Amino acid sequence: MKFLSTRTIILSVGIGVIVGIFGLLVTEKKLLNPLQFGKQKLQSGDITTFSTRLVFGANSTSFSARIYSYDIVKLKRKLESKQNMFVDISGSGDTRTVQEAVNAVRRYNKKRVTIYINAGTYIEKVHVPHNKPYITFEGAGLHHTIISWNDNQTLTNGSTIHTASVTVDGNYFIGRNLSFRNTAPIPLPGVKDGGQAVALLVKGDKCAFYGCGIYGYQDTLYDYSGRHLFRECHIEGAVDFIFGNARSLYERCTIHSIASKAGSITAQSRASKFNVTGFGFVNCSIVGTGQILLGRAWRPYARVVFASSFMDNIIDSAGWNDWGNSSADSSVYFGEFNNSGPGANMSGRVPYARSLSFEEALGCTQIDWIDGSEWVDDR
Ligand SMILES: *[C@@H]1O[C@H](CO)[C@@H](O)[C@H](O)[C@H]1NC(C)=O
Ligand SMILES: *[C@@H]1O[C@H](CO)[C@@H](O)[C@H](O)[C@H]1NC(C)=O
Ligand SMILES: *[C@@H]1O[C@H](CO)[C@@H](O)[C@H](O)[C@H]1NC(C)=O
Ligand SMILES: *[C@@H]1O[C@H](CO)[C@@H](O)[C@H](O)[C@H]1NC(C)=O
Ligand SMILES: *[C@@H]1O[C@H](CO)[C@@H](O)[C@H](O)[C@H]1NC(C)=O
Ligand SMILES: *[C@@H]1O[C@H](CO)[C@@H](O)[C@H](O)[C@H]1NC(C)=O
Ligand SMILES: *[C@@H]1O[C@H](CO)[C@@H](O)[C@H](O)[C@H]1NC(C)=O
Ligand SMILES: *[C@@H]1O[C@H](CO)[C@@H](O)[C@H](O)[C@H]1NC(C)=O
Ligand SMILES: *[C@@H]1O[C@H](CO)[C@@H](O)[C@H](O)[C@H]1NC(C)=O
Repeated sequence: MKFLSTRTIILSVGIGVIVGIFGLLVTEKKLLNPLQFGKQKLQSGDITTFSTRLVFGANSTSFSARIYSYDIVKLKRKLESKQNMFVDISGSGDTRTVQEAVNAVRRYNKKRVTIYINAGTYIEKVHVPHNKPYITFEGAGLHHTIISWNDNQTLTNGSTIHTASVTVDGNYFIGRNLSFRNTAPIPLPGVKDGGQAVALLVKGDKCAFYGCGIYGYQDTLYDYSGRHLFRECHIEGAVDFIFGNARSLYERCTIHSIASKAGSITAQSRASKFNVTGFGFVNCSIVGTGQILLGRAWRPYARVVFASSFMDNIIDSAGWNDWGNSSADSSVYFGEFNNSGPGANMSGRVPYARSLSFEEALGCTQIDWIDGSEWVDDR
């Protein structure tokens, strides 16, 4: 069986009003019966033109395709190998839920599969498993396409990981122009545990997010492991809302604090001096409410750098916190370089905060920090 792009046909379903499009791969096996699609009967060798309306745009596009032959059973199975899918909450796409589209991706696929997710709030928990790399979620804009769930750590019996609305285990995942939300209730003042509520957990390696929104309160973005790029993203929360042990670059992001009194933007968890992990923020903007810390050391080798970023008047002047382990003061790496705005004044910082030189800051605030030249596709 061969899967060639020339054998990919795009069929539209529906009579009169086109309600969706399906991209199917066709095998060269002989067709026993014609395939019925609305009023059309498709035979081996047919050439047909489908006029359809892409669910994402207002403009119509037409497709021509030569119909080879089908084996309807195989066609159904080949739902698994579709290269692109459309998710539409009102039923005009291939699937109504994001998870169904992920489920339809072939395991161990080697080509990028783009899952277009039409505008809408998808109330579901989504898991991209490790055996499904090269998946892209592309939304209709971060204010329009939203994946949302509301688990907190009380509900998952103490497991922060399992609170995530969206979990990405697959490598080479791309998120573009959509939002990830956790809408668990904001924990009451004084409540120490249970309020952890992750919106997005990224465990896969070489994953990138462009123009995405990541919304929560406590533990919004679990930047768990691997090398990641977050570009032009909006990341929101109050307590440790960017945390974990990944090696990440945050470029031109808006870091939006919704802390009422105290909170922390980052809680990096580099646990060993041998870990090449840490968070680099560059050309970002830190706004919102607070007295918020730039970071606290979840583990003694925590590494976080802010460079060339705007910091509004919400930064706790101490800047950083060692999480009660003063022995860690000499092992953490908390750096600042060339930041601007009222929050960037370093005169009240903890003694172990580092004022970095340009060269030092570059260490983790450029694309090489995440080996991006090997895998970030800037087209
Ligand atoms: C539709 O086509 C017009 C003219 O080519 C273009 O200006 C517009 O941006 C298109 N709209 C969408 C949603 O692609
Ligand atoms: C998609 O995100 C990019 C940033 O990566 C932004 O420039 C673009 O305007 C966004 N498009 C939509 C439709 O939101
Ligand atoms: C949490 O524990 C309760 C009671 O043992 C159980 O019903 C529930 O399924 C558990 N939830 C999770 C996410 O493990
Ligand atoms: C977690 O969510 C549940 C359900 O919304 C809520 O009852 C509970 O108070 C929350 N836990 C915390 C610590 O806020
Ligand atoms: C961190 O270093 C420890 C000890 O060398 C190692 O076991 C662990 O896998 C490393 N983790 C990461 C994320 O690099
Ligand atoms: C310092 O930050 C500003 C933005 O505030 C930027 O324009 C400038 O290029 C940065 N300088 C260096 C040396 O990175
Ligand atoms: C405190 O930091 C020191 C120095 O890095 C480290 O060896 C020790 O394990 C840390 N203690 C705790 C409880 O994390
Ligand atoms: C930084 O803060 C200190 C102490 O509040 C103040 O004396 C100093 O003028 C500030 N520097 C700038 C550049 O605002
Ligand atoms: C940050 O902005 C400066 C000034 O515009 C630019 O030179 C630098 O390449 C940017 N850094 C990254 C990692 O995009």
